[in-house]
Amino acid sequence: MNVITPKFPQMLHGGDYDPEQWLGYPDVLENDITLMKQAHINCVSLGIFAWSRLEPEEGCFDFGWLDDIIDRLWKAGIYVDLATPSGARPHWLADKYPEVLRVWEDGSRAMFGGRHNHCFTSLVYREKVRIIDTELAERYSSHPAVIMWHISNEFSGDCRCPMCREAFREFLKKKYGSLDRLNHEWWAHFWSHTYTSWEQIEPPSYKGETAVHGLDLDWKRFVTHQTVDFMKAEIAAVKSAAPEIPVTANFMGMYFDGLDYFELGEALDVISWDSYPEWHAPCGNEVIAMNESLSHDMMRSIKGKPFLLMECTPSTTNWRGISKLKKPGMHRLAILNAIAHGSDSAMYFQIRQSRGSAEKFHSAVISHTGTSDTRTFREVTEVGEMLEKLTGRIYGSSTPAEAAIIYEPQSKWALDKAQGPRNAGLNYFDAIQRCYHYFWANGINVDIVNENSDISRYKLVVLPMLYLWRDGFSDRLREFVKNGGTLISTVFSGIVGENDLCFLGEATEEKLSDVMGYWVEETDSLYDGEANSTVYSGREFELTELCEVLRPTTCEVLAVYGSDFYKGKPAVTANRFGSGMAYHVAANAPMEFFDVFIGDVAPQLKRALDTGIPAGVNVTLRQGGDGTDYIFVQNFLDTEQTVALGGDYTDILSGRSCSGEVTLEGCGAAVLVKE
Ligand code: GAL
Repeated sequence: MNVITPKFPQMLHGGDYDPEQWLGYPDVLENDITLMKQAHINCVSLGIFAWSRLEPEEGCFDFGWLDDIIDRLWKAGIYVDLATPSGARPHWLADKYPEVLRVWEDGSRAMFGGRHNHCFTSLVYREKVRIIDTELAERYSSHPAVIMWHISNEFSGDCRCPMCREAFREFLKKKYGSLDRLNHEWWAHFWSHTYTSWEQIEPPSYKGETAVHGLDLDWKRFVTHQTVDFMKAEIAAVKSAAPEIPVTANFMGMYFDGLDYFELGEALDVISWDSYPEWHAPCGNEVIAMNESLSHDMMRSIKGKPFLLMECTPSTTNWRGISKLKKPGMHRLAILNAIAHGSDSAMYFQIRQSRGSAEKFHSAVISHTGTSDTRTFREVTEVGEMLEKLTGRIYGSSTPAEAAIIYEPQSKWALDKAQGPRNAGLNYFDAIQRCYHYFWANGINVDIVNENSDISRYKLVVLPMLYLWRDGFSDRLREFVKNGGTLISTVFSGIVGENDLCFLGEATEEKLSDVMGYWVEETDSLYDGEANSTVYSGREFELTELCEVLRPTTCEVLAVYGSDFYKGKPAVTANRFGSGMAYHVAANAPMEFFDVFIGDVAPQLKRALDTGIPAGVNVTLRQGGDGTDYIFVQNFLDTEQTVALGGDYTDILSGRSCSGEVTLEGCGAAVLVKE
């Protein structure tokens, strides 16, 4: 069993609570705890943005209010995920030490304001953060209520101050050793951009260098490196008092690509993330659910164990163009979706709705009315009751997967920068989603891992548009296929190496040509709305955006292009290598193609159910430590759906027996165990 918070090994239900905004309202604070109990809340994240209340003046601390709140929460049986307050600094800190403010791309320094905008390199900022973090750790680590540290909030962004620029140069010196090597890896002799001293190196900027892609990639790597370094310093501070208390830092999911979360994950005990899908958007909840499930799967895969849903809204956000309410039932279903894909919590932003400033219209468990008599409060309470029902069985269970999709943030960074073959959009996330749909729609668990992960444990590995291959990756792919694995790659994969230099040669081992059985001669780019086609398995599919013209060596051709001058040339290939198979789809194919194709070529993979699953329904499997299978069935459509089960099950949510099938109302869900 994977226990996230040993002091309180149960599904967590709660969220961000900001009493520091309400210190002048004692009745409100008193009432909040009563309402939290009513809503079955068992854990709150405290102090995330409370620095100005904790240290109102430099070196003068006021912990009285926090002592009081933590004690009162504890008396009520509510645990605390205690935050370090580094996500937003007090005025005095910026006024006295302006170096903590970020320098932007145009070279100007930010003024005080907002949040998440401090320099990660500033020694002053690091020292001030260390002091407040250590004070908190020494005071609260042994408090029975404190079960976890919440490091800062949603790390993001970069700074280009003189200290960051110097740290970047040091990072590069360590990486490359010499300017000769750097000039080569960055291909800097291009346009006479050769560096002749380290001091000439500046971060990429629209006012300066944008053409050296290696510089851009290394800057992004540096930003992750510096963020991790800052985060590790915070972790060391809070762990100095009690190393056994786990630490987490709330991520923003797969679609935030400003940082390499796989690298941040290595420094953390627990992965947690903030999920704000746009439910009820015109594209349909089933599409949103699939994209959201993909993000949950990635968060789980970073550490290969349960994660925490650290934030989601009880109903509406306040920052979208249109702030829609979650319709009745949607909240419960969204939470179950997170749990189905590996979450062991349902936490919210926010417990009590803020009265003023930027987030006053963001929904909360307790609204401005301050009562329990709201639809949102009732739905949150139902979720709390549901988690109590699930915890004994689901908490700490695994989400076993025999297949993996490789998502490499560093490849995305390079791909986003690539000029040509299609500046109108290469749509990397779409490419991943089109492959992912097969697994989502067929009840097959899949991990979303990066290039550094151990792929030998999978039967099937899919590389959607995996442009950049980091050092050693092609060797691991070769071993994987040689030893019997099935590999599927799609268009524009394996084009550049670790530092964004194109692979050279026709058919080379570096490009995995021996494994794939072809090499790419040319890549055509199509206008939006333009399409080629292919016939596969008796059906015609449109091919769009990018079409590679392949030169087969040993591969078998499974399908060919239907038009243009490369009509009749391979669009889909297969190659036996060692005891495995390597497939390639040479153009952008639609989701419907991958539904058929992956189904045809994938080896036998464990399915949550062996029956057909209706479109719009997602089925996943979590497995208890005793080997019990828990099958999560979720209907994202508004209409009733019946799912054949091929056996007798009990729905542990409703207690009903499901003989041979389960019928779910619109937005309905079940968690099934075998009778
Ligand atoms: C998150 C953030 C919270 C809150 C929330 C609103 O990104 O961590 O502090 O601002 O968004 O949706």
